[in-house]
Amino acid sequence: RNLFFIIIIFCGGLFSFSQNYKAKVDSIMSLMTLQEKIGQTVMYGGSWDQTGPIVGADNGKYIREGNMGAMLNAMSVKGTLDLQKVAIEETRLGIPLLFGYDVIHGHRTIFPINLGLSASWDLKMIEESSRIAAEEASAEGIHWTFAPMVDISREPRWGRISEGAGEDVFLANKIAKAYVKGFQGDDLSKPNTILACAKHYVAYGAAQAGRDYHTVNMGEGELRNVYLPPFKAAVDAGVETFMSAFNELNGVPTSGNKFTLRDILRDEWNFEGFVVSDYTSINELIPHGFAKDSIDAARIGMNAGVDMDMMGHLYRKFLKNLVEEGKVSEAYINDACRRILLAKYKLGLFDDPYRYINEERENTTKYKPEFLAKAREIAAASSVLLQNNNEALPLSTNTKKIAFIGPLVKDEYDIIGNWAAKGDRQGKALSVFEGISEYLNSDQILYAKGCDILKDDESGFGEAISISKQADAIVLVMGEGHHMSGEAASRTNLKIPGIQPKLIKKIREANPNKKIILVLMNGRPLNLSDEVNLVDAILEIWFPGTMGGAATADLLFGEVNPSGKLTVTFPRNVGQVPIYYNMKNTGRPIPDNNPKEDYKSNYIDVPNSPLFVFGHGLSYTTFKYSDFKLSSQNLYTNGTIQASVTVTNTGNYDGHEIVQLYIHDKVGSVTRPVKELKGFEKIFLKQGESKIVTFEISVEDLKFYNSEMKFGVEPGEFEIAIAPSSDFRFKHSFNLLD
Ligand code: NOJ
Repeated sequence: RNLFFIIIIFCGGLFSFSQNYKAKVDSIMSLMTLQEKIGQTVMYGGSWDQTGPIVGADNGKYIREGNMGAMLNAMSVKGTLDLQKVAIEETRLGIPLLFGYDVIHGHRTIFPINLGLSASWDLKMIEESSRIAAEEASAEGIHWTFAPMVDISREPRWGRISEGAGEDVFLANKIAKAYVKGFQGDDLSKPNTILACAKHYVAYGAAQAGRDYHTVNMGEGELRNVYLPPFKAAVDAGVETFMSAFNELNGVPTSGNKFTLRDILRDEWNFEGFVVSDYTSINELIPHGFAKDSIDAARIGMNAGVDMDMMGHLYRKFLKNLVEEGKVSEAYINDACRRILLAKYKLGLFDDPYRYINEERENTTKYKPEFLAKAREIAAASSVLLQNNNEALPLSTNTKKIAFIGPLVKDEYDIIGNWAAKGDRQGKALSVFEGISEYLNSDQILYAKGCDILKDDESGFGEAISISKQADAIVLVMGEGHHMSGEAASRTNLKIPGIQPKLIKKIREANPNKKIILVLMNGRPLNLSDEVNLVDAILEIWFPGTMGGAATADLLFGEVNPSGKLTVTFPRNVGQVPIYYNMKNTGRPIPDNNPKEDYKSNYIDVPNSPLFVFGHGLSYTTFKYSDFKLSSQNLYTNGTIQASVTVTNTGNYDGHEIVQLYIHDKVGSVTRPVKELKGFEKIFLKQGESKIVTFEISVEDLKFYNSEMKFGVEPGEFEIAIAPSSDFRFKHSFNLLD
C-alpha cells in the first residue's frame, strides 16, 4: 500500500521508539523526492475557522499529491480523521498531517485574554490555563497551537497588545516559559500535549503608531535587550516552533530576515524546531517592496529560514524550480523538511497518526467542571482593581438595590474576548448579570443596558438614569467589544468607546453622592482620565472568559479579594504613547525638587507620569512594606547578594500581594532604563500576618547587550528597591565589584 508502512515492516527495529528521532527522520527522508520534501513545508487552511484573508486551496488534491504537510483551522475528530486518512492511505509515503490552530487563551473553556492572564503574575495559573487549553484542543484533533504570542508591546493603540504579556521583558520571559510548559507538557508523545509556537518573530509589537502590520525601526540594542529575550526564553523552555512575523524590521521584512531567522535563531540560539510563516507573510514580501514577484518571495522566504509557508501557495509552486536553478539550496529544503518531520515524530504521529482522533475524548473533555472552576479562579486573579475610593468595593450582598447598567452587563458574547478559539459565544459563558445573580435576590437587582458599545443612540439613557436613582449603589459594566482588540484592530483613540463615557457622566450628575463602580472589559490600556473623577471604583476585568461573569461577582462582593496588577502602563491620554515604566532618563529629566523647571523633558499640558503605572493594582486589604535589608553592599561578579523586605497585611481582609524587585544600573557604556523589574513574588497574607520576602541577586540579573552587542555586566553602582508597584523612588544601592 504505501511506502511508509512497508518501511516500518522492513526496517523493524529502526523504528523502535527508543531510537533517536533524527535517525528515524533521516531514514524516511532518504525515500522522499524533492517535491515530497517541499510538500512538508506547505500549510493550508481548513474550513472550520477563518483567521485571515480567504486563500483558496484544493486541500484533498494537495494532500493526495503529497503537496501538503500541515493544515490550520482544521479540527474535530471527524474532520481530522477524514483528512488524515487521505494523507495516510492515499499518498505514496503516508506521512501524517499536522493540524494547527490558534489556541490562544483557552480552546473551549476560555480564560481571560492573555494581557489579563499576565496581570495575575501567577506563573502556575498561566501554565494551568495552557495545560487545560491543550487538553481540550488535543481532544479535538489539534496537534499544534500558534501560541504563545511573546511580543513585548508598549503600544496600547496596537490591538494585539491584548494577546501578549505586557510591556516588561523580565515578566514576559517567565510567562513565555509557563505557556510553553503548559501546552507542551513534559512529554510530547502524550496525546494531550500540543506543540507550542513562539510568535511573532520579531518586534511585531513595536509597529509604528500602533498600526497593525506596520513598519518597525529599532536599534539592535533595543531588539536584543527588550524584544528578543521572550523568544529566547521560549527556546530555553523547549518550544518546538516559531512563527515569523508580518512586520519589517529595519527595512527587512521578518519573514525574509536572514539575520533574525538564521543568524540569531539558529546559529546563536541553536533552535532545533521549525519556523512557520505567518498567514501569507511570505507573499507579503512583494507589497513590502522586498521581493519582485511570487517566485522571488519563495526564494527569499526559504533562504532566510522560514521552513513552512502558511497559506501562501509559494513553496508548493516554486521551490522545486528554484532548487533546480540553484537559487535555493537543496540543503535548506532538507533542513526544513527534517525539522517538520521531527516535530511529527515527537508527537508520536508516525507511531499512530490517529492518536489525537478519539471520539470519546472529544465528547468528554470540553468544559469539564474542573476546567470551569479553574477558569473562574484565574479570571478573578487576573482582574485589577485600579481605583477604590472610600472603599467603595466590596459591595455588601445586603445592599437593598443595586443598579447594573451598561452594554456589557448581560453580555455572553464579547466576554470571552478575541482569539477565543472554539469557545462558544452563546450559551456557555456566564455574563456578569448571571454572576451577580448568584449573590443577590432578583428584587435587589435593577438593570438597564443604557446604550450600545459603539452606536450613538441615546434612547436608553432615560431608563438607565431612572434606575440609577432608585438604587443604593451603581455598577456600570462597560468597555470595548471583543473585535476592538486583537489582529487588525488598532485604535487611535484610547477612550472607552462610543457614548458610554457620556452615560457615565450623566449617571454621576444624577447621583452626585452615590457609590458608582465601573467594571471594565477591554483588550488594551484605556484612557480613563475622565472616569477616575466620575466613579469611585474601577475594576479592570479585561475580557475575562467563560467564567468571567462569576469571577467578577466573586470580586464585587468580596468573596475573592482582587490581586492582579497591571503589566502595562495606562496613559493619561494617547499623546503620551509610547509610555512605559522602564524608560530612559534623558539628559534633562524633571528635577524632583523643582518639577516645574523649564527646558526639561516634559509636556506642557499633562504630567509625564501615566494614569496607572506598571505593577499597580489594589486589594481590599492594605500591605505595609518595611525593614528593607541587603545582605551586603558589595556584589562580586561570581557571587550573589540577598535583598529582603517584610510585608505585612495591615487591613481587614486576607489577600495576595505581588511583591516586586526593581534595579537601576546607574551608569553604563550604553544608558540603562531608570528602573527594571528583576524579580517578583506573589504571596498570600492573612489579616495581620507578616512575611519576609527575599530575592537573590546575581550578576546574571544585571547583564545587558552593550553597544558591541556583547552580553555582560559592567561594575558600578546599582540602585535597588522592593516595592508594590513601579511607582517609587530608590533609597538603597549596592556596588558591583570585579
Ligand atoms: C495571523 C496571525 O498574525 C497569527 O497570529 C495567527 O496565528 C495566524 N493568522 C493563523 O491564524
